[in-house]
Amino acid sequence: MECSVGKPGAVEGYRYSAAVVNSDVVWTDETLDTYLTAPARMLRGTRMTTGVVRPDDRADIIAYLKTLAAP
Ligand code: HEM
Repeated sequence: MECSVGKPGAVEGYRYSAAVVNSDVVWTDETLDTYLTAPARMLRGTRMTTGVVRPDDRADIIAYLKTLAAP
C-alpha cells in the first residue's frame, strides 16, 4: 500500500468524506494520535466514528504506518 506522508485523503481509489478532503491537517505523529483518539472531534463529519482508546495501541499503529511511508 502506498502511503502519502503528511497529506490527508491521499490514497487513490478511496472515496474520502469532505471532512477529510477539505481539511488542512498535516499528518504527523501528534495529529495522527489526536485523530485516532477521537476522529470526529478533530475532523467533524468524518465517516470514521470510532477511536482507538489505548495510547499504546495508537503508538503501535503510528509506528506501523511509518513503515509504509515513502522515504
Ligand atoms: C491505522 C489506523 C487508522 C487510520 C489511520 C484510520 C484513518 C481513517 C480515515 C482517514 C478514514 C476516512 C474517513 C473519511 O473519509 O471521513 C477512515 C475511515 C473509517 N475508519 Fe479508520 N482509521 C484507522 C483505524 C480504524 C479502526 C481501528 C476503526 C474501527 C475500530 C476504524 C473505523 C473506520 C470506519 C468505520 C471508517 C469509514 C469507512 C467507510 O468509508 O466505509 N478505523 N479511517
